[in-house]
Amino acid sequence: MSRSRPVVAIDGPAGAGKSTVTRRVAEELGYLLLGTGALYRAVALSARRAGLHWGDGVGVGAHAERLVESGELTVARGPTGEQRVFLGVEEVTALLGDQSVGQGASEVSTHPAVRAALLEVQRRVGAMGGIVAEGRDVGTVVFPDAEAKFFLTASLAVRAERRYRELLGQGIAGDLAAIQQEVEERDRRDRERAVAPLRRADDAMKIDSSTLSAEEVVALIVEHVRQIARELEAK
Ligand code: DC
Repeated sequence: MSRSRPVVAIDGPAGAGKSTVTRRVAEELGYLLLGTGALYRAVALSARRAGLHWGDGVGVGAHAERLVESGELTVARGPTGEQRVFLGVEEVTALLGDQSVGQGASEVSTHPAVRAALLEVQRRVGAMGGIVAEGRDVGTVVFPDAEAKFFLTASLAVRAERRYRELLGQGIAGDLAAIQQEVEERDRRDRERAVAPLRRADDAMKIDSSTLSAEEVVALIVEHVRQIARELEAK
């Protein structure tokens, strides 16, 4: 597909700094932000409310299809371009950051019918370009033709510590060892699932953020995207 502005895909494991980096990259470039994990989180939340077990692939798959087809699951923009997620008229954005909802998202995202239902939603938002989308399979499955792809990683210890500090910031004193185990478990499930597993696209630039600040990662990505955007414009 030919676009005048690139699709920027940022994939990587939990805690690699994707959401912070993606938000700032989108701000600097003036692009739309799409956090795809929030969609899986919304499906997990809604399924739990409906009394479904996250492991029930048939039930949760049908539930996700219904959420999408009925238009109940929607993504909108806040005043500063932030992503807001709705289930019907209820805004659920603030409920999606919960650790248990994150685990649920990792579980429901293993079901092919859930992934298929959410694929269309993601493509609809990004088809025109001028978007920074982050997730696990954005560069491999959702937008394999994305013009700029990045795979953001960090060591397990660094990612667990970031999560620990994030919780502290919310006034929650977590157990670092338990958090590390949870992060590791989520990674394993995301990498080992049969459909659209977490992996680096062959043409994605790998960035290890273990020893880089968010600013440094953002600068790297923005510079690279600007170069690609100039090339697209010149075409
Ligand atoms: O990025 P996150 O923590 O909000 O993602 C929550 C879960 O959703 C993650 O563990 C796996 C799933 N996910 C996915 O399978 N594919 C994506 N593109 C994004 C998230």
